[in-house]
Amino acid sequence: MAVTDRSGIFAGDDPFAIARRWLAEAEKTEPNDPSAMALATVDAAGLPDARMVLLKDIEGAGTDGAFVFYTNYESAKGVEIEATGVAAFVMHWKSLRRQIRVRGLVSRVESELADAYYDSRPLQSRIGAWASRQSQPLDSRSYLMAEVARQGINHGLRPSRPAHWGGYRIRPIEIEFWADGAFRLHDRFRWSRQDYMSDNRANFRKTGEVTLSLWDVTSLSP
Ligand SMILES: Cc1cc2nc3c(=O)[nH]c(=O)nc-3n(C[C@H](O)[C@H](O)[C@H](O)COP(=O)(O)O)c2cc1C
Repeated sequence: MAVTDRSGIFAGDDPFAIARRWLAEAEKTEPNDPSAMALATVDAAGLPDARMVLLKDIEGAGTDGAFVFYTNYESAKGVEIEATGVAAFVMHWKSLRRQIRVRGLVSRVESELADAYYDSRPLQSRIGAWASRQSQPLDSRSYLMAEVARQGINHGLRPSRPAHWGGYRIRPIEIEFWADGAFRLHDRFRWSRQDYMSDNRANFRKTGEVTLSLWDVTSLSP
């Protein structure tokens, strides 16, 4: 299906603009966390893993856009991303009955960008990033609280960003927009870099070095 055949909520030739539009609508209708997304990664054994994170930015447009979230680089998801360079996520808005699915190549955001976002967070969250060894076993809640107090004293009112905490940028190779339709006849449009998918599967680890091709839009059966 040609790009121009799409209309209504699917209209436009930039998938990042569509994603921004849908997210802006969800911000008005969802009771909380409209930017929550289920992020999937794979571990060294190929076993998938999934957890929620918050989408913090939709960058760019056309073929240069990306989705950004922040986390601990040494967490389970961080370790899995560092090893594979790939991830997928899905956002579902119950209030809109819509979902967006993304599969892509992942790399760290620039340290200046991570610093700026870190500095914008509440002080307790900034201290928390120092205090929590995310995904590691925790002896007790009181140990964590003591660590928060200790790190608070160490770092004061203007903590610098820990090297183990920052953002990841997901550059999509596939984005699917899905909207609920009557009688389960849902609308689905998949934007993909088809030649990338067929030619480069073996090279997924080369994040950041690849030139991604133009979008190819396909209507999918529900
Ligand atoms: C709605 C929601 C939003 C969350 N946002 C984040 C986030 O932006 N970054 C993050 O590291 N963890 C976030 N979490 C916690 C993660 O789901 C997860 O527990 C944590 O990152 C550890 O995951 P891992 O052990 O797979 O690395 C969020 C959880 C929920 C329920």
